[in-house]
Amino acid sequence: MMETKMTSEISAKLAGQVSLGGELSVNRLGFGAMRLTGEGVWGPPKDRNKALAVLRRAVELDVNFIDTADSYGPNVSEELIAEALFPYPKGVVIATKGGWNRPGPNQWTHNATPAHLRKAVEGSLKRLRLDRIDVYQLHTPDPVVNFDASVETLAELRRQGKIRLVALSNVTKEHIERARKIVPIVSVQNRYSFADREWDFVVNFCDANGIAFIPWFPLGAGRVAGEVLDQIARAHQVGPKQIALAWLLRRSPFILPIPGTSSSEHLEENVAAAAVRLTDQEYDRLAGVPELESVR
Ligand SMILES: NC(=O)c1ccc[n+]([C@@H]2O[C@H](COP(=O)([O-])OP(=O)(O)OC[C@H]3O[C@@H](n4cnc5c(N)ncnc54)[C@H](OP(=O)(O)O)[C@@H]3O)[C@@H](O)[C@H]2O)c1
Repeated sequence: MMETKMTSEISAKLAGQVSLGGELSVNRLGFGAMRLTGEGVWGPPKDRNKALAVLRRAVELDVNFIDTADSYGPNVSEELIAEALFPYPKGVVIATKGGWNRPGPNQWTHNATPAHLRKAVEGSLKRLRLDRIDVYQLHTPDPVVNFDASVETLAELRRQGKIRLVALSNVTKEHIERARKIVPIVSVQNRYSFADREWDFVVNFCDANGIAFIPWFPLGAGRVAGEVLDQIARAHQVGPKQIALAWLLRRSPFILPIPGTSSSEHLEENVAAAAVRLTDQEYDRLAGVPELESVR
């Protein structure tokens, strides 16, 4: 049984705020709504009421940035968000994405053609019951579609008032630089954690350019990672996942973690990480984990 200290106040506000393109400000601990769907990110959740309760609890805990995508379910995650939260409380930002097709459970096929993205945005607007999507992310560049053409389509949808802010996911620094020549980019969502640092230089680029960086799969993996996490978690009397999140929050003021869960209990633990402060030594030990892993 994990020892988890719950502070008297569990609030995403304690993580501070991050600006999205200077237009919107959100608490720096969000929620990823991919895990609310059925197995393999496919179909409805086993328990619909439980999934709706997780979303409502997130907002009660001051989470005001919810990440989703048309491909989660597909459609299911966006539909659940609208069912749980519409009419959306003031300040709640829904960030959705497009650019994948879903032929079946655990299957993802690229489609970031202009025609598909236009259709995808219409579908998301309808399911989320919005006139304009606050943040729309290109889910991933499509290798058979010119990247500029995908981004230009999102810029055009922004001009038409269907999207407020444009964002990217699963991209390199070069993609961000190319996209920014077409339209302002407010956030970048790549896989990242203290133990998974392939995108360190993209985090640095985002930090230097005032772009929010949204790490997905924020839980560190690997044997050394587990040992170090457990030791630091015991010292703070919190769970290891909270320590992984606290490291991300400290890594850059532009990092906006979106831990995903289908359980209200896990949600509360994750949001409680907003109050965990690592010492310099703890931060450095976790930062050194990839090197420790490589010498094993
Ligand atoms: N842009 C992309 O390509 C991309 C790809 C993947 C994900 N995402 C986004 O990023 C979000 C987060 O990524 P993720 O869901 O893959 O990874 P994650 O948040 O690191 O991990 C989620 C997993 O950890 C479990 N978990 C969550 N909180 C826990 C806790 N306190 N204690 C123990 N287990 C816990 C969840 O299971 P339970 O349900 O049992 O809690 C789930 O299996 C997603 O929801 C999605 O919005 C984006």
